[in-house]
Amino acid sequence: MSAPPRVPHSRPGPAAAEPAAPEGHDTHEEHAWSRCDPWSAALRTGRGPLYLHREDGTRHPLDIERWCAAPDAADRTVIDRCRGTVLDIGCGPGRFLAALAERRLTALGIDSNPHAVARAVRTGGGALCRSVFAPLPDTGTWHTALLLDGNIGIGGDPPRLLRRTAELVRPGGVLLAETAAHALDERLSVRVGDGRRAHGSPFPWARLGSGALLRHAEDTGAWTGAGEWEAGGRRFVALRRV
Ligand SMILES: C[S@@+](CC[C@H](N)C(=O)[O-])C[C@H]1O[C@@H](n2cnc3c(N)ncnc32)[C@H](O)[C@@H]1O
Repeated sequence: MSAPPRVPHSRPGPAAAEPAAPEGHDTHEEHAWSRCDPWSAALRTGRGPLYLHREDGTRHPLDIERWCAAPDAADRTVIDRCRGTVLDIGCGPGRFLAALAERRLTALGIDSNPHAVARAVRTGGGALCRSVFAPLPDTGTWHTALLLDGNIGIGGDPPRLLRRTAELVRPGGVLLAETAAHALDERLSVRVGDGRRAHGSPFPWARLGSGALLRHAEDTGAWTGAGEWEAGGRRFVALRRV
């Protein structure tokens, strides 16, 4: 294995001095989460209730209490599959980072919300306040990337996120992604709220079942399917970088 990536010191503040954004970098969805008051408040307290509210009035729970707790048995099925250096994309409060550090794996969390990064660092992980679409350290060298807890929805455009993740992971590396329980392939417009009221401007999100994720991944030409599994009622897909 080559030298591990340098894990930078955490920067739990707003990303003030970012390098220039790559072409096509859209900060709208990034700011949606970083400036989202209910999400920031829930990250501070570790408590919900919290939901993604859709424009049609339906909503999807954001499981903040579970995300602020230690990894559960289903999470450990992901941790067991991590190899080499690990990039946790949209790490939130960072429950995976501390567990990976305990296993002596080099791991970095990135999240666009500074409160998420602050909490991840307190939990014992290395984390950086940065969008996945912004310039990132050690691009093209990561052995494992994670998109868990619905994070395949980040940016609302899964093919774009898969292409971006392919830039980050080395050939032969893997992406471990959590998928929806049903055969879904939907792009939606959401706001975060407490189940009664939603706040802020709508931002793009997506939900994918395993079949749709595998199709989009193969279409990029950069990923190939490397396994699927279920644990604790949750579904996961492993993709290998070709
Ligand atoms: C559905 S939550 C999942 C949280 C998480 N995996 C956990 O353990 O709490 C989505 C997370 O992705 C982050 N996020 C949203 N857009 C992002 C982006 N463009 N780059 C990095 N993180 C992002 C949010 O701030 C939030 O913490």
